Amino acid sequence: MTLQDKITAAAEYLLNKVSLRPRVALVLGSGLGDYADTLENSVKIPYSEIPNFPQPTVEGHTGAFVFGMKEGKPVVVAQGRVHYYEGLAMQEITLPIRVLAAIGVKILVLTNAAGGVNLSYKPGTLMLISDHINFSGANPLIGKNLEKFGPRFPDVSDLYAASLRTEIKKNAAAENIPLEEGVYLMCSGPNYETPAEIRAFRTLGADAVGMSTVPEALVAGHSGLQVVGVSCITNMAAGVLPQKLDHSEVVETAAKVHDLFHKLVDVILRSC
Ligand code: HPA
Repeated sequence: MTLQDKITAAAEYLLNKVSLRPRVALVLGSGLGDYADTLENSVKIPYSEIPNFPQPTVEGHTGAFVFGMKEGKPVVVAQGRVHYYEGLAMQEITLPIRVLAAIGVKILVLTNAAGGVNLSYKPGTLMLISDHINFSGANPLIGKNLEKFGPRFPDVSDLYAASLRTEIKKNAAAENIPLEEGVYLMCSGPNYETPAEIRAFRTLGADAVGMSTVPEALVAGHSGLQVVGVSCITNMAAGVLPQKLDHSEVVETAAKVHDLFHKLVDVILRSC
């Protein structure tokens, strides 16, 4: 079965199963997945039901598409995601994004938990992604180009659409939601970075570091979608503070900013 066949089969399954046709999709990161519970009239489709879908394995991620209404709009939430460090190819982990594109989604909102590289950030800072640095060592667009979706050599100079960011920043400010804007750098993980890597990344221009988002953003961009990215800075990156990094801190901080994060996602949906 080709990648294109897998995408088509999964898209057909969803289109037969749900009548909503969302223009906006959300991918929720570590500890942020419960936003999906706030959708009205929701229909949940576990990834395990969908033909050929990769299954997330990490704690804090449950795999499902949740279709529903939010801020007066039909939206679809990809609850939980599969990470590159789980051992699947980048083409596999981004399959859900191709499927979202195939069912007609036009804007992809990606959220993640990330380490703060910018020294002015604190755990709990919310950062709108202005651009990324792909330091993962891989690329989901490698391989036969999917001509149905986009060109061999896609332009990514406005991947995190500036027009949407302007609108989001304006609307977040109006609601007194503090929002930074910066560059997200992706490492493959699963280890957290070394302090030397973090110092290097700061020099390179990174403000936040994480293990996701870049593959999805690249595939969305290639598929002609506009991308919005938000990082929840759950911890300062390695070597910034005299303490060890631990996944429990990531989950704890995500829980602390829960309400503000929900408000920000509401604002983003209104801005799209
Ligand atoms: N590094 C990479 N990924 C992360 C981090 C980090 O410090 N925090 C949350 N996800």
